[in-house]
Amino acid sequence: MRPVDIIDKKRNNKALSKEEISRFFQEYLHGGVTDYQVAAFLMAICFNGMSNEEIFALTSEMIASGETIKFDDVEAFLIDKHSTGGVGDKTSIAIAPLIACLGMATAKLSGRGLGHTGGTIDKFEAIEGFQFAKNETDLNALINQTGIGIAGAAKNIVPLDKKLYALRDVTATVQSIPLIASSIMSKKLAIHADGIILDVKVGSGAFMKDTETAKELSKTMLQLAKDFERKMIVVLSNMDQPLGFSVGNSLELIEAIETLKGNGPKDFTELVIHLVATALFIKGDTNSIEEATDKVKALIGTEEPLEHLRKFIKESGGNEKLVDDYTLLPVAEKTIEVVSTVDGYVHKIVADQIGNAAMELGAGRKTKTDQVDHSVGIILHKKVGDKIEKGDGLATLYFNSDHQLEDVMDMVKDAYTILEEEISAPKVILETII
Ligand code: URA
Repeated sequence: MRPVDIIDKKRNNKALSKEEISRFFQEYLHGGVTDYQVAAFLMAICFNGMSNEEIFALTSEMIASGETIKFDDVEAFLIDKHSTGGVGDKTSIAIAPLIACLGMATAKLSGRGLGHTGGTIDKFEAIEGFQFAKNETDLNALINQTGIGIAGAAKNIVPLDKKLYALRDVTATVQSIPLIASSIMSKKLAIHADGIILDVKVGSGAFMKDTETAKELSKTMLQLAKDFERKMIVVLSNMDQPLGFSVGNSLELIEAIETLKGNGPKDFTELVIHLVATALFIKGDTNSIEEATDKVKALIGTEEPLEHLRKFIKESGGNEKLVDDYTLLPVAEKTIEVVSTVDGYVHKIVADQIGNAAMELGAGRKTKTDQVDHSVGIILHKKVGDKIEKGDGLATLYFNSDHQLEDVMDMVKDAYTILEEEISAPKVILETII
């Protein structure tokens, strides 16, 4: 069957066989199918969807396009926690040391931030001298030594996804459940962790804007995990406002450490505890997530997770003393406060606007090649549900350059909706799907 016949079949909503999907993408990888043919095929998928069998075939093809990581030299139960991305999302930093305390280890490839969401890699790179494991052998050794295996994305994991994602980005074909599910899951399945915890963010600052679509995506991804015989739990969590108070690399690292010490923001602490509890539950050590939650809570505020984090930082070339002395981290010295001009209650904080404001200060990248300033960012003082009086600080900006500072201050102020009526703080964990 010619590529055009495969496209035609999908356009007419007829089921494609595993062989047809495989041949189409194999030929694409080897130059026999063009970008414009793939774009047409992707658009047909956007309109007609895919059956579970077709999604499985596409995901298998994605995984087979590159290398996989098996962690043969590691004995610990490995957890890959993945978040679909949001503003102020520093969960990986706080979760990994807790997972290590519970006799498990983290096995995770992280990315750099682009646009309004930050990446875990950038946050650790705020630490002077810090270097991620360069190859699989180093990563295995790091996991065995510290229980924390966070590394930068390896080059050749799911190269087909890189090609497809670049094309989807410019052909309005990103928003398709089968395409998103196979893109995310192929990258998770290529890394052989024992348990996958997916934190699917929902809300204005997230990729998934509403709970219904997020649930549909989650179910599709859970079906894939089942088809590939892998253990996975999905947590839907709120991204209608930034997570925690801090946005920006050093500031988020500090907030994650403070959370381990028991001084973290309420929403962030709750999410961290829940995600670690689901990891312990998936391992099979407890009968329920509630039972696991008690075990995780008992670790917050103790030396144990901090010791794992110190070890991870030290083994990665950084100064572990920063866990107890934040002056060892770059934090911008110039600060300015954005204040409220009205009395009332915070009803809304548009998360991506805060993310974009932090990016304007230099905390994130507008394009892939931009340099990040790890020292800048924003600390929010008020979250949804908080009472506020005229003149109270909404947020403090940490900056190095005055360029466009007024505009950034306006962006932060405008991100807040303050109304007279009282409102309660939103739930951070919306649903856990097993
Ligand atoms: N994240 C991914 O990795 N892939 C998508 O398609 C969407 C979000």
